[in-house]
Amino acid sequence: MRRVAIVFESKYGNTAQVAAVIKEALGGAGVPEIVSEKVDSADVNRVATFDAILVGSPNHIGGPTRRVKKFIRNLAAFDLSGKRLAFFDTYIGGDFGKAVAKMENEFKSRNQSAVVVMPGLSLRVEGMKGPLADGELAKGTDFGKLVAEQKVDV
Ligand SMILES: Cc1cc2nc3c(=O)[nH]c(=O)nc-3n(C[C@H](O)[C@H](O)[C@H](O)COP(=O)(O)O)c2cc1C
Repeated sequence: MRRVAIVFESKYGNTAQVAAVIKEALGGAGVPEIVSEKVDSADVNRVATFDAILVGSPNHIGGPTRRVKKFIRNLAAFDLSGKRLAFFDTYIGGDFGKAVAKMENEFKSRNQSAVVVMPGLSLRVEGMKGPLADGELAKGTDFGKLVAEQKVDV
């Protein structure tokens, strides 16, 4: 994996923290080019050129935020053959994996060109504003390593 883009939204900073840990793990695993940016400043045309694209969102009312959903729809308009896509979320309580599943469906129902790395990453926060629960960030590190090891045919 040579070029990885991470795009995320974060109201209180927890999902941003997950993005930072993933970025660090990718760098540690030798990925030479990694960009990480907030969804409102991400240029989908540029993001679509990366070998792997990771999209993260806090769970808001059982799914990704509106902006993230829109970004995924825009991304699904591109031919991403041979590339890897992966999703991550943060949630409270019983909503493990729900926003991730919705993001995966949002993409897969429109575009079958990229391989979606499954399962995505879903990390629990202790309250509305966080912090991330004990041990959750370590899963972000493992996820970054897993993505770094993916073989791409682009
Ligand atoms: C408007 C709103 C709706 C939310 N709805 C849910 C929900 O349905 N399920 C859930 O597990 N967490 C829900 N949360 C909690 C968020 O998942 C939590 O604030 C988030 O993980 C924190 O990430 P952030 O610091 O990146 O914003 C909601 C938060 C907000 C602000």
